[in-house]
Amino acid sequence: MDLSAVEKEILEADLSTEEGRAAFQRRFLQKGGVLDSFFSALRSLPPEERKARGQTLNALREQARQRWEAAKKAHLPTPSTPHKPQDPTFPALRIVVGGRHPLSLIEGRIIRFFQRLGYRLASGPEIEDDWHNFSALNFEPDHPARDMQDTFFLDLAAGLLLRTHTSTVQVRVMERQKPPIRILAPGRVYRNETVSARAHVYFHQIEGLCVEENLQASDLKATLTCFVENFFGPGTPMRWRASYFPFTEMSAEVDIACLICQGAGCAVCKHTGWVEVLGCGMVDPAVFEACGLDPHRYTGFAFGLGVERLAQLLYGIPDLRLFGQNDLRFLQSFQGYGYAL
Ligand code: PHE
Repeated sequence: MDLSAVEKEILEADLSTEEGRAAFQRRFLQKGGVLDSFFSALRSLPPEERKARGQTLNALREQARQRWEAAKKAHLPTPSTPHKPQDPTFPALRIVVGGRHPLSLIEGRIIRFFQRLGYRLASGPEIEDDWHNFSALNFEPDHPARDMQDTFFLDLAAGLLLRTHTSTVQVRVMERQKPPIRILAPGRVYRNETVSARAHVYFHQIEGLCVEENLQASDLKATLTCFVENFFGPGTPMRWRASYFPFTEMSAEVDIACLICQGAGCAVCKHTGWVEVLGCGMVDPAVFEACGLDPHRYTGFAFGLGVERLAQLLYGIPDLRLFGQNDLRFLQSFQGYGYAL
């Protein structure tokens, strides 16, 4: 076979099929092929002919390689995109969207309300120390709330515990910020309780704190009355009960008429017709002192809202264990509420 026949074949071989291309590759581009044997034969040529012949062979091999590459590229499998006619009557795929958890819906609503009154968000750790959970809040060393019954102690020696209320954040804010202060601190709290329809080992609170000069109990009452009317609707029956907290003086609790039984009496309101939704009061001067603020100059009020309670009443949820069970049938019933609530 002389070189012109080889060249002819390189130019004319049928490369339209995969087999044709494979044969071409074996014949002209691989070891043991025709071209390869011509290269091997170079060695037996006299040196003066070797160079010219080598160049011709190289050119042939390059020609073969280019044809083969081009053929390969031209025959790449193309993705099939058959045109499917659209059928507008075909049922749409159901898009499953998530919904927000009812507690998060309630929390968002409360936050938005107080933000409009100038409150900023604040937060603190769930693992706390005795100082922020108790001592700075004027709990005497032998106060019953420190008892193992209520508090999950993590490390007694180090004084570490799971916070029992979000009032810890009051202390943390007042320790580092000078008045005027208006903060809102949502968060999870823990208490060593027997789990039931009304009580759980953890639940959620939203703490509010307002510190300025010349604040009065009437400011507290106006703020919270406005909140309750905004949250449950104007004219919602509410009552103020005198109460006691070590860190407020005066102290009060607010009850709402039980919206689950409309006052007739049920398990949620312990058959009283009223449900406690928040604790509040005027900041005790001893707390200002513990946090390094001048108790003669500043006055303040604080409140702690129970998020589960508010959600229970607003949505008519009889058992607060439902909030933590992640039962989709329960959670999906809040899907439509979205963000706007
Ligand atoms: N921390 C109190 C509780 O958990 C609630 C509270 C907050 C009361 C702020 C007064 C002021 O019961």
